[in-house]
Amino acid sequence: MKVITLENAAQIGEQLGRFYVDFVKEHPSCVLGLATGATPLPTYQYIVKAYEAGEVSFADVTTFNLDEYCDLPKDNKNSYYTFMQENLFKHLDIKAENVNFLDGNAADYEAESRRYAQAIQAAGGIDVQFLGIGRNGHIAFNEPSDAFTDEAFRVALTQSTIDANSIYFDDAPMPHYAMTMGIGSILRSKKIVLVATGASKAQAVKGMIEGAVTPQLPASVLQQHADVTVYLDKEAASLL
Ligand code: PGA
Repeated sequence: MKVITLENAAQIGEQLGRFYVDFVKEHPSCVLGLATGATPLPTYQYIVKAYEAGEVSFADVTTFNLDEYCDLPKDNKNSYYTFMQENLFKHLDIKAENVNFLDGNAADYEAESRRYAQAIQAAGGIDVQFLGIGRNGHIAFNEPSDAFTDEAFRVALTQSTIDANSIYFDDAPMPHYAMTMGIGSILRSKKIVLVATGASKAQAVKGMIEGAVTPQLPASVLQQHADVTVYLDKEAASLL
């Protein structure tokens, strides 16, 4: 793992945003694996500014998001579909048919998992996968468990994740299940970038980089991937 520690989240957004803009300029038909949450926002803001400045086009880019809540309508204000529309896609020239999400309301979750795996394969695989990390070491919604997962599956969210994400739900109840890409699907990405900011992530970051590879800290599996770059701010790096 290559670890880059910068001053703060804004600096990470600029450096990683620049990386994405250059990557899309060099590979206009690339396939990007994208993430939601607070962590990617500075990077997405940099990308939008570069697009608005006429620097880059996303017309031929394909995207796959990591996860989506179950039991929440796609157009609900808290769905990850809505998050991506509001924070990235509606500001770019990306084509709606090139944007891919897991369906958290699928009637058959196993068939939905197979559909997503086939769509990723048909697109030629994911070139660059963006990841955040949960306080409990989760990546996407792969929560600590007894075994690493492979393809997408329906997961029961842990209390740690429910506590962290329920701030976005105001008075509405937060879903307790999600569809998530599995560890195997994430590891098949050609390149992975993981961003962690803030002191609440420091313990998980230490385990991911310095600890044993274990499904109890799912991000630790990234030690086995050949091309991972981790971007940290000072707080997230404070226990290394
Ligand atoms: P966050 O979530 O970016 O909102 O901190 C990261 C994650 O849970 O993967």
